[in-house]
Amino acid sequence: MAYRDFKHPDDKPSRDAPTGAGAGRSVQTRLVGGSMALRRAHGHAPNLQGTWLFDPIFREQDLEALKAWCAPTDPRPLVVEIGFQRARFARAYCEQNPDVRFMGFEVRKKFCEDADAWLVAGDVTNARLALVDAREALPLLVPAGTLDTLFAFFPDPWWKKRHMKKRLVSRDFAADAADLLKPGGELVVKTDVEGYADWAEGELRAESRFDVERLADTTAGLPPTQRERRCGIHGRPTWAIRAVKRADESTSETSDSALR
Ligand SMILES: C[S@@+](CC[C@H](N)C(=O)[O-])C[C@H]1O[C@@H](n2cnc3c(N)ncnc32)[C@H](O)[C@@H]1O
Repeated sequence: MAYRDFKHPDDKPSRDAPTGAGAGRSVQTRLVGGSMALRRAHGHAPNLQGTWLFDPIFREQDLEALKAWCAPTDPRPLVVEIGFQRARFARAYCEQNPDVRFMGFEVRKKFCEDADAWLVAGDVTNARLALVDAREALPLLVPAGTLDTLFAFFPDPWWKKRHMKKRLVSRDFAADAADLLKPGGELVVKTDVEGYADWAEGELRAESRFDVERLADTTAGLPPTQRERRCGIHGRPTWAIRAVKRADESTSETSDSALR
């Protein structure tokens, strides 16, 4: 079944839905590992070790350090990657763009520690990595309208209908991304699942603040991710979608009031 055949489930809000900006609308989101608050109350601290690796759930000082890293008072562009895995893309991108602030999110601890070691081995100093679901952490760390670039590469497709809530790209995600991005800022999504590309394009087009295009150059002019490299080796096609936030609207409030 292709994603475009799926209908949105009319679900009740999840008990672990995000609590930051845009919380009211993120009713279909199921956070990976549960919300930060629930994990703090009931989970175990993972005792993360790393130079550029942060635990904003269990260490208050890490949360504060990441807020400072993402603060708009820093003039360097802020670039976020969701799901950095082993940071193969993050390191290559930071090497090519030493003047940006890179902020990566990943929900699996074993990837985080590998990723940190990979950045250290490459002498990359302009990246910070966090073990947390990006959907909840982003509104806590990044003030609305201040993000330059958001990357979501090869998100898990979650094929089954009952797993739809776990998909990263959704209308709520598109609205949250549009809240965070600066006017002119961009979101790039890549996938190797054609149905997911159709789905993601549709969800992003539903967000009125975005201009959306399917890219003919599926690299989007960026270094390849680990998954993308593997697709290349096996001759598997990939798709890329770019959503640019229009310069004339900066918050959901302005677009809502424009509709009234
Ligand atoms: C299929 S892998 C792709 C990895 C990498 N982007 C690439 O292209 O090689 C998706 C990754 O995203 C992570 N992930 C999924 N949902 C996430 C979320 N909400 N926040 C942060 N990481 C997430 C997963 O743990 C996994 O490592």
